Amino acid sequence: MATPLIAPSILAADAARLGEEVRAIDAAGADWIHVDVMDGHFVPNLTFGPNVVAAMRPFTAKPFDVHLMIAPVDPYLAAFAEAGADRLTIHPEAGPHLHRALQTIRDLDRSAGVALNPATPLDAIAHVLDLIDLVLVMSVNPGFGGQAFVPHAVDKVAAVKTLIADRPIHIEVDGGVSATNAGDLIAAGADVLVAGSAIFSGDYARSITELREAAER
Ligand code: DX5
Ligand code: ZN
Repeated sequence: MATPLIAPSILAADAARLGEEVRAIDAAGADWIHVDVMDGHFVPNLTFGPNVVAAMRPFTAKPFDVHLMIAPVDPYLAAFAEAGADRLTIHPEAGPHLHRALQTIRDLDRSAGVALNPATPLDAIAHVLDLIDLVLVMSVNPGFGGQAFVPHAVDKVAAVKTLIADRPIHIEVDGGVSATNAGDLIAAGADVLVAGSAIFSGDYARSITELREAAER
């Protein structure tokens, strides 16, 4: 089994010191930096715009895994790509034409992901598998860090794994991920774990190592 990738969510970082937090989480061993963009409309919370992504960009060379929880999403794809996003993950409910939005991300030369809310069926991605590099299985309803893990996500990861078969598509899990559920998620087929509170609430390097060890167990 390949070593799982750990993507700390800077939503849980100290917002007054975002640049230093990005540098610290990079030094602590993060593989990707997960950036949760929220609009107060698609989800009931507001976070970062492209200017904040651009401001954080010089603090690490690691990939920015930008999770867009905004609707409409299409008008902002280019701005986030320009701001320094390496990967843009969108929700099928955030625009009228998922296929077109994924084509736009590809045209911007960025990796494309689709996020599935707990209630979103796998059918949503069945016809776009050739356009995506990642499926994000949400294990909470999007909008806030620190929510309780929805256990059904483990079965959903397994179903996504079956659906993607041998395609080179990452399966990422986001929401309530901790050392408690990391092993089950990786065993089910996930290879990227997002974690906010589980990492930023303690010693960053130790938390990342604990998560990685739990995932490999
Ligand atoms: C929720 C976000 C998550 C969140 C995860 O809408 O997509 O990335 O920051 O935070 P924790 O790990 O605390 O659930
Ligand atoms: Zn997220």
